Amino acid sequence: MKAIQIRQLSSIKYRFSFALIFLLCCSVAQAKVKGHCSTCHTMHNSQNGSVLIDGGPNQALLRQDCVGCHTGDNGSDNGASVVDGTPFVHYTADVDDYGDAGILGSTLAGGTFHFIDLLPATGHNVAGIDTTEGAGITPPGYNSGLPDAAGIIPGGGNWTDQQITCAGTYGCHGNHNTDNQFIAVRGGHHQGVNGEKVEPETNTSPAASYRMLVGIAGFEDSDWEYQPDSSNHNQYRGSTTPGQTADQSTISYLCAQCHGQFHSPITNLTEAAGGGSPWLRHPTDYLMENDGEYANYGGVDNNYLPETPLASTKTHNVDIVSTINFNNDSIVTCISCHRAHGSPYYKSMRWNYAGDSSGGLCVNCHTSKN
Ligand code: HEC
Ligand code: HEC
Ligand code: HEC
Ligand code: HEC
Ligand code: HEC
Repeated sequence: MKAIQIRQLSSIKYRFSFALIFLLCCSVAQAKVKGHCSTCHTMHNSQNGSVLIDGGPNQALLRQDCVGCHTGDNGSDNGASVVDGTPFVHYTADVDDYGDAGILGSTLAGGTFHFIDLLPATGHNVAGIDTTEGAGITPPGYNSGLPDAAGIIPGGGNWTDQQITCAGTYGCHGNHNTDNQFIAVRGGHHQGVNGEKVEPETNTSPAASYRMLVGIAGFEDSDWEYQPDSSNHNQYRGSTTPGQTADQSTISYLCAQCHGQFHSPITNLTEAAGGGSPWLRHPTDYLMENDGEYANYGGVDNNYLPETPLASTKTHNVDIVSTINFNNDSIVTCISCHRAHGSPYYKSMRWNYAGDSSGGLCVNCHTSKN
């Protein structure tokens, strides 16, 4: 009860700060913060002798924490929206417009943590948001041997009794060598690169990595996939060689750092040690071929479908894929099926798989199972 009251009070404070931020700055979506320093930072956590942030000051002299700044409605027209430069990954209860696949409403590419406010919590139960389930769950499929580009394994290789966080040791964003979330993403907000990254496999800077996911490559859509379509979306990095070592800059390898067993066929090593049909686990970092039922992905024109995204081997200096050619741009990834943050559906699926006897959007790829 007490926790809920504090949350409500905080959200009023957040709304006020947002109104202020966006009156002062920000008209075009881009990958770097801009605007007056004072809209986001406070030098002494004090104004006219009163404390500005209860429980503060925050790291990097910030007026809010990660969740505070990233809570809101992407589609709102009061200025505090993704259109004005802040991606909201936790929308509030009154913006539950996910729909069937989360591509028409307020949901961004990662999905939304809104659905971990509820029970059952369907998504990553990050500290600072999750009020229902949470602490102490080891990542399913954790195989504790898969480091990030800086050589650090999230959770230190020994994940016990810890809740997942946005960033840091137990988080997805930023470096994993610190449990301080602001040190983990340092530089990411001011030096963020919109679009292509250089040498992602060895780049350990949050700013130069795809969405501050250290060492991961990819092309960043400038509005974080707000209402995407075939020609307006992120371009994810994938590999045509399944397994843990082929390309450690893929979006699926990010997931593998905590869920490694699900990224590897492990005991079924045919097809050049990558596994093959019949599979033991659903393949990822695997090229979907222009053959059989898969040839009909996206209809006769093979349009890219943002509700079941595919990755490509090239995300550097290429146009984003709007129609796939099955050469190096039809790679199955973890996020072909899941939302990284949360969704309304069981196990953070992008669509209602468990509750729909037809399987829902599995048929986007398995077209003859329709
Ligand atoms: C829209 C919000 C926003 C505005 C405006 C903003 N900052 Fe920041 N700043 C952040 C965030 C978030 C971080 C911490 C996370 C990070 O480093 O990515 C940060 C971190 C910093 C840091 C420490 C990390 C680094 O990048 O070296 C400095 C110094 C800083 N800001 C200075 C400034 C100054 C000076 C201004 C005005 C010219 C400014 N900021 C305007 C959001 C903002
Ligand atoms: C003061 C407000 C503020 C705080 C605090 C803040 N962010 Fe952000 N964040 C922003 C804004 C504004 C953007 C959009 C500009 C940009 O991409 O840097 C953003 C963008 C991002 C992005 C997308 C970057 C990209 O490549 O497009 C990520 C990831 C992110 N923030 C994570 C975090 C994490 C993790 C924390 C806590 C350690 C945090 N943010 C704290 C305001 C904030
Ligand atoms: C830093 C470690 C970490 C990373 C990276 C990570 N996860 Fe997780 N994941 C966890 C933990 C811990 C849990 C169990 C607790 C929870 O659900 O929050 C979990 C749970 C899940 C669940 C079950 C959620 C539910 O509703 O029960 C899914 C699905 C999932 N992860 C998918 C992914 C995908 C897809 C990626 C890559 C985009 C990913 N994870 C990356 C740590 C991680
Ligand atoms: C993004 C495209 C895509 C989506 C979405 C997708 N699949 Fe698959 N699936 C594939 C590909 C490609 C293969 C591997 C085919 C091969 O062996 O060449 C595969 C393999 C399989 C296999 C193993 C077949 C075998 O020969 O061993 C099963 C079972 C399966 N998928 C079920 C599902 C279900 C259930 C869903 C929905 C939850 C789903 N798939 C969603 C692309 C997809
Ligand atoms: C073809 C769709 C599909 C792909 C691709 C896929 N998943 Fe899943 N995942 C599911 C479904 C469906 C479930 C729910 C359980 C089930 O039906 O097997 C699930 C469950 C999970 C869980 C929860 C397991 C638990 O014990 O509760 C995690 C974690 C997870 N997936 C992570 C991943 C990761 C990491 C990848 C990439 C390496 C991945 N998934 C790729 C469809 C997929």
